[in-house]
Amino acid sequence: MRIKENVSLKGYNTFGIDVRASRMVEVESVGDCLGEAGRILREDKCLVLGSGSDVVFTADYDGTVVRVTMDGLAEEGDCRVTADAGWVMDDLIATTLQKGLYGLENLTAIPGTVGAAVVQNVGAYGIEAKDMVESVEAYDTATGQICRFDNAGCGFSYRDSMFKQSHGRYLVLRVTFKLHSQYQPVLTYKALEGVPHATADEMRQSIADLRWGKLPRPEEHGSAGSFFKNPIVDKATWERLRTAYPDMPQAHAAEGPGEGYKLSAGWLIDRAGWKGRTMGRAGVWPKQALVLYNTGGCTGDEVVALARAIVCDVKEKYGIALTPEAIII
Ligand code: EPU
Repeated sequence: MRIKENVSLKGYNTFGIDVRASRMVEVESVGDCLGEAGRILREDKCLVLGSGSDVVFTADYDGTVVRVTMDGLAEEGDCRVTADAGWVMDDLIATTLQKGLYGLENLTAIPGTVGAAVVQNVGAYGIEAKDMVESVEAYDTATGQICRFDNAGCGFSYRDSMFKQSHGRYLVLRVTFKLHSQYQPVLTYKALEGVPHATADEMRQSIADLRWGKLPRPEEHGSAGSFFKNPIVDKATWERLRTAYPDMPQAHAAEGPGEGYKLSAGWLIDRAGWKGRTMGRAGVWPKQALVLYNTGGCTGDEVVALARAIVCDVKEKYGIALTPEAIII
């Protein structure tokens, strides 16, 4: 375990917001949790950060930021790999493809660590982390034990999980993915129509091209990827909007039975006229309205002010309440 005091978080959040944490603890082994790191997690005010790709800091963090830096990988046979939570998700995808294990390729270039991918149930281009997760090992701060959850126990839903809902009770340590020995392209997402996909590497390149064509390059502009979730509405709301706006894109089916109709938040924000606009030093990305970004030296308050203005405007224009995917701290 490593402890640092009074740490700048600028390099630990993808928005690049310049705030400080009183303390940072890096968990380097499962054993750390059974010792001092576990005590800190149980007793102190803590915030677990992966790559910081889904947070907006509006002030210094008066507590301990916990990061899992373990990045081991074990092959468990039968196309299973167990990855430590500190792996950068995209590096894990590249490594599994090199090993001839398929299934994660549509998540190419998704930001964040393996731990965060599970907490957030990240998804893109027709797949979600939950589709490949077999089990998760986590430290339970309520009992001080290491525990294991199977896929059902993780309580996954759209950009959500039991881990996210339990607000810091669990620290994800290791994730076992069940992959495939044969490449089976997933082409259900509309934007993938016609992209080269003959091999998994080709699919990976196609996804990377699509993503980087729409999202800011992290080395140029800070952002948190999609800032808002796509809202899920009932049939009557969906029909009201479809009638009023026949050009509204076909919503993707929401996950799970009876979960309703998923609208495209990006389309709503774009149509409300926000694409490319800035407020203070925060902006709406000109190529994808779902993404808020740091135009340079932006504060968390500026991001939140822009987000609030968008939420109010979309509510007024369409009667739809947008909720952030990013966590505001
Ligand atoms: N659209 C617009 N204007 C925009 C943005 C989108 O009209 O500014 C329209 C598009 O033309 C399309 C529809 O809205 O018809 C959906 O857009 P897109 O395919 O870009 O996907 P999304 O719903 O905006 C979701 C995820 C992304 C993921 C993509 C691809 C959420 C909140 N976002 O975006 O995830 O990469 O699908 O699968 O579910 C992330 O979570 O950080 C993220 C980037």
